[in-house]
Amino acid sequence: MKPYESRVALVTGASRGLGAHIAHRLAELGCAVAVTARSADDLRLVAKRIIEDTGRQTLVVPGDLRSREDRVGIVDQVESSMGSIDVLANAAGIGAANEFHSFDGSDVLVTNLEAPIDLTRRVVPCMREREFGRILNIASIAGAVGLPYLADYCASKAGLIGFSVSLREELRGTGVSVTVASPGFMVDEGMYVPYQTPAPWYFGSNTSRKVAERAVKALVKQRSHAVVNRLPMRPMMTINAVSEPMMRFVTRSLGATKFMRGLSEMDVTGTAVNEP
Ligand SMILES: NC(=O)c1ccc[n+]([C@@H]2O[C@H](COP(=O)([O-])OP(=O)(O)OC[C@H]3O[C@@H](n4cnc5c(N)ncnc54)[C@H](OP(=O)(O)O)[C@@H]3O)[C@@H](O)[C@H]2O)c1
Repeated sequence: MKPYESRVALVTGASRGLGAHIAHRLAELGCAVAVTARSADDLRLVAKRIIEDTGRQTLVVPGDLRSREDRVGIVDQVESSMGSIDVLANAAGIGAANEFHSFDGSDVLVTNLEAPIDLTRRVVPCMREREFGRILNIASIAGAVGLPYLADYCASKAGLIGFSVSLREELRGTGVSVTVASPGFMVDEGMYVPYQTPAPWYFGSNTSRKVAERAVKALVKQRSHAVVNRLPMRPMMTINAVSEPMMRFVTRSLGATKFMRGLSEMDVTGTAVNEP
């Protein structure tokens, strides 16, 4: 029997990229999967692929996570069609490099932080009652170290890391575990691709499928915070933990600030970065 046989999973940000791979991986582990995002057609394609590859029950639930009403509707629809949610994977996220003062970051904060917290609050009571639940939050290394020209994004992801480790400890012993996964740059798909600029080696790089595999593995093993790019990010984060000024000196010397400023000056509006 598969480890997550007959478990019900809700995956946000599942219309493409990382979220779609996470949904696929959870179905491979035996879950019935509900996929949500705004683009209904893309969700249907992802669902079709999951059904073809795994034969698992799949539900398409379009919705805009910025809307509280949509968030309530998504959870209600999944519960009434598939039963209680056992696994919640919060993969939806938006972000683009900008000069802080010339950018309204409210959508970033709502999509990346308020929405996953709200969805988690909606599913945890039932998980506690049944003494089983797995929450996977996709944060970012940017949230752990703070990259320039991404202030709102870093705030949202740092908040998500803080939220996850706090709730995990609160829920210890209840059967409900919370895992937060922090990827570095994904090079094949996702919000960074529209920049069409290779990321410096020290930011790490990975494919979205690999990140999805590692994130779901961390969820299954009930890890706390999984840094899914092993090298060079883990050693860098260790330096950061020991001495943030030293880490900053190293990355600035390597040109990280200049690189991020360059991204903020590029026009990627109208691409997949912020809008469907
Ligand atoms: N790409 C990277 O290098 C990287 C690095 C570290 C962390 N991450 C994180 O990984 C996650 C996935 O990123 P990605 O690069 O795969 O991004 P992506 O390809 O742009 O996908 C983002 C997903 O979020 C959904 N989404 C965005 N706004 C939404 C909204 N208002 N309501 C509902 N769904 C919404 C999108 O679907 P619709 O547009 O159809 O709504 C899409 O499915 C994000 O949390 C991101 O912060 C990415």
